[in-house]
Amino acid sequence: MGLFCCLLVLFLQLFPCAVCQVREFVSIDCGGTGYYTDTITGLTWVSDADLIKHGNVAQVNNSNGNRQQYKHHRYFPADSKKYCYTLSTTERRRYLIRATFQYGIYDDGNPYPIFQLYLDSTKWSDITITDPSRVYIDEMIIRAPSTSVDVCLCCASTGYPFISTLELRPLNASMYATDYEDEFFLKVAARVNFGALSKDAIRYPDDPYDRLWESDLARRQNFLVGVAPGTERISTSKNINTGAREFPPVKVMQTAVVGTKGSLSYRLNLYGFPGNARAYAYLAEIEDLSVNETRKFTMQKPAVPGYNNIVVNIVENANGSHTLYEPSYMNVSLDFVLSFLLQKTGDSTRGPLLNAIEISKYVQIIPKTDNRDSNVLEAFRTMTTQSYWTHEDGDPCVPAHWEWVNCSPSMPSRITKMTKIIIKILEATEMISTLSGKDLKGEIPSEINNMDGLTELWLDGNSLTGHIPDMSNLIDLTVLHLENNRLTGQIPYYLGDLPNLQELYVQNNSFSGKIPPALLSGKLVFKYDDNPELIRTEYHKSNIKFILGTSIGALLIFVLITINSTRIMSKPSTSYSLVRGGSVYIDDGLDVVHITFTEIEEATQDFSTKIGKGSFGNVYYGKLKDGKEVAVKILADASYHGTKQFENEVKFSKYVIYCSEYVILFLKALMDATAQADADVICYD
Ligand SMILES: *[C@@H]1O[C@H](CO)[C@@H](O)[C@H](O)[C@H]1NC(C)=O
Ligand SMILES: *[C@@H]1O[C@H](CO)[C@@H](O)[C@H](O)[C@H]1NC(C)=O
Ligand SMILES: *[C@@H]1O[C@H](CO)[C@@H](O)[C@H](O)[C@H]1NC(C)=O
Ligand SMILES: *[C@@H]1O[C@H](CO)[C@@H](O)[C@H](O)[C@H]1NC(C)=O
Ligand SMILES: *[C@@H]1O[C@H](CO)[C@@H](O)[C@H](O)[C@H]1NC(C)=O
Ligand SMILES: *[C@@H]1O[C@H](CO)[C@@H](O)[C@H](O)[C@H]1NC(C)=O
Repeated sequence: MGLFCCLLVLFLQLFPCAVCQVREFVSIDCGGTGYYTDTITGLTWVSDADLIKHGNVAQVNNSNGNRQQYKHHRYFPADSKKYCYTLSTTERRRYLIRATFQYGIYDDGNPYPIFQLYLDSTKWSDITITDPSRVYIDEMIIRAPSTSVDVCLCCASTGYPFISTLELRPLNASMYATDYEDEFFLKVAARVNFGALSKDAIRYPDDPYDRLWESDLARRQNFLVGVAPGTERISTSKNINTGAREFPPVKVMQTAVVGTKGSLSYRLNLYGFPGNARAYAYLAEIEDLSVNETRKFTMQKPAVPGYNNIVVNIVENANGSHTLYEPSYMNVSLDFVLSFLLQKTGDSTRGPLLNAIEISKYVQIIPKTDNRDSNVLEAFRTMTTQSYWTHEDGDPCVPAHWEWVNCSPSMPSRITKMTKIIIKILEATEMISTLSGKDLKGEIPSEINNMDGLTELWLDGNSLTGHIPDMSNLIDLTVLHLENNRLTGQIPYYLGDLPNLQELYVQNNSFSGKIPPALLSGKLVFKYDDNPELIRTEYHKSNIKFILGTSIGALLIFVLITINSTRIMSKPSTSYSLVRGGSVYIDDGLDVVHITFTEIEEATQDFSTKIGKGSFGNVYYGKLKDGKEVAVKILADASYHGTKQFENEVKFSKYVIYCSEYVILFLKALMDATAQADADVICYD
């Protein structure tokens, strides 16, 4: 017990910030087990077992030492899907996200994996494993676009996608702010600590933000070659004042390289380049210069217009020795091979000095699927207890679409098809699971009307209830399958107007009322059997005389003649004999909005808000389902029929709507600047 206390105290002293900063760190050991503290960093790691539902764990031949995080990795099928971890973020806060990959499998006969890494819908990296013992590291600096980000693996071209660790590190205040952060992430290409004392990278707790500062002693191909003769490593144990902008760790700034023969040069490959970069040099004078000495140099390479003749004098620029100076290029175009050369000026007594560099590539953020669509998909996902639904990770469309949707190639993507695979998946998993209630239950979300990119919607064979919601915006819809559900209510009139609808299946539901005549016109494949309460009405094209016979019928004719190019839909009513004996369908191709009397009642809340008295009768306020405000006019007095004024209202009307008890003239929305309260919807009897 005594020993334990001492160790604990020692631990707290070693990691003074462990308490403050670390609390927000997320460190995921992919494929790992349990929950443990890393003896090197003091950070706490958690297994990903509860964070991802896919993949398998592979034991790794950890020839790189015995770091717990690298004893396993999680791998995923090499299929057309993507597999994602979702990390919680605070919107608009900046983070460093790091993913690492150690394959660690040597002789299994398979080629080494090549696959892709995504952050949300944005391609982050091509992961190409050539050395199974190497830990491949990818870092991205982001300003969180929302309250979570998805890190996704997909698209293996050889082997299978896998991952070893995933880390999320919040950054502070204005660190890594750029002018472009709404449109670009920053993919870290190089962060190098020069003059490092060992081959090990510097990270937490030396860097409270846990960036990885790679040692310049680390050896790999095309990394820090072409070193100028006379390059020497220097270090100090004095404190460095690093309290500016990016807060590089003191330990990194305490070491440097100097070009004792007047120049410092290096060459390294920048993976992901050419491209536009944000490049930083971290400089601090750590040698004690006497008063007659100076250190002045210029950057000769790479060529950056306007920068190559600027003389750097660290002590002057930083206003003191042992103080950070951060020259930076917020947007510089760099090649894949970066050659840089710092050259002493003629009047300088000392050669150039460099403590650290950091270079990141601007990566254009690809928008996620239009949230009008993804919100509806989420609503559908909540309608089933079937967990398979939530097993589709990340964005519905990018980089790989969910199995049960198709997407447009536009930016942002739109959902074009929600398919029957939903049902197939449910059937397939039914065999595995014995839980009851596996299919879609409840009402079709009304927001489906926002999915106006949809061309096919297959919702058949579920337990959907309620009415068919408004889908009149889905004008690209060609196929709609609603059969074998428990849907009720009327078959909406607008379905007859969807210009591209070719296939409508509603059989085996509980629909009632009359079938909209347009659906029976033979223009589309329409199946509606097994709906006992559904009434099929006769369809007659342009047979006006057929409906004549009452005075109101005559008026209807007057309406038709007056507005000329308007279609009227009508249905016979048992309680009222307006069009007894048949229905009318004048097909002149003008827009028709079908509003049932029930919908008018709903819109006006049973004609509860009277907003005036127009020339023909009372006018009521109403709000249609789509939010459009209307005035509804009830034509009460039959003696007004046929007046000039009525004729004019009809003439300027946009729509004629028939509902079972009334003829409604739907003239203008209240929103229309010219509209008056007495001229929107007229019902008369
Ligand atoms: C593990 O790796 C070492 C060296 O990299 C190799 O010699 C050894 O055969 C490997 N063991 C297994 C089981 O793959
Ligand atoms: C982050 O910023 C807050 C205030 O802006 C400060 O109190 C805190 O010490 C900073 N953390 C680190 C690790 O610098
Ligand atoms: C950087 O500069 C280039 C060329 O001037 C410009 O096209 C680009 O939009 C700028 N910003 C980023 C983030 O690349
Ligand atoms: C600077 O002054 C010191 C004595 O203070 C002298 O030894 C040294 O040679 C001088 N260096 C130069 C470059 O003049
Ligand atoms: C530079 O540092 C000195 C003290 O070391 C201080 O008096 C002076 O104000 C500083 N100048 C600037 C521009 O910060
Ligand atoms: C009708 O639909 C229900 C689901 O609502 C389904 O269980 C039943 O098998 C269907 N009947 C036929 C004949 O397809």
